[in-house]
Amino acid sequence: MKKILFICLGNICRSPAAEGIFKKLIKEGGLESQIQCDSSGTSGYHQGQPSDSRMREAAFERGYSLESLSRPFVKEDFENFDLLIVMDQSNYKNVLAKAETPEDVKKIQMMLGYCTIHEGINEVPDPYYNDRFDYVMDLLEDSCNGLLKSLT
Ligand code: 4NP
Repeated sequence: MKKILFICLGNICRSPAAEGIFKKLIKEGGLESQIQCDSSGTSGYHQGQPSDSRMREAAFERGYSLESLSRPFVKEDFENFDLLIVMDQSNYKNVLAKAETPEDVKKIQMMLGYCTIHEGINEVPDPYYNDRFDYVMDLLEDSCNGLLKSLT
């Protein structure tokens, strides 16, 4: 069983969208017994809240349903997951600050490192203030497809 954790800042936009997309790919591939995923945020600002309604709408239009509730990233996540996939450099620094071993550090990966269509960009921009929800969906669909290929 491979366990993947998607991480952003608030866990109400980018990482729950990645989780929703990846869960659908897992289901479509019949891979539920081999791959699991979850999401979390480096801040606890929105703990317990559903995803942002604008993100849910953009995802719904492409056939995904985002059902997770925001939870903060905790250092136990290093033990509980095989890969910790972050959306931007700031997330990377915040997660790295909680790493205790070289194995922990190796688990942290940039989401857009898995893209095959959108190359030359390495951060998923935060859509909370700029409204680029469709663009975020484009980037996340591309990277989730690449991630699945890398695991199978
Ligand atoms: P996310 O977006 O990290 O993709 O969930 C954000 C959501 C909320 C805030 C920042 C980013 N905020 O500052 O409240």
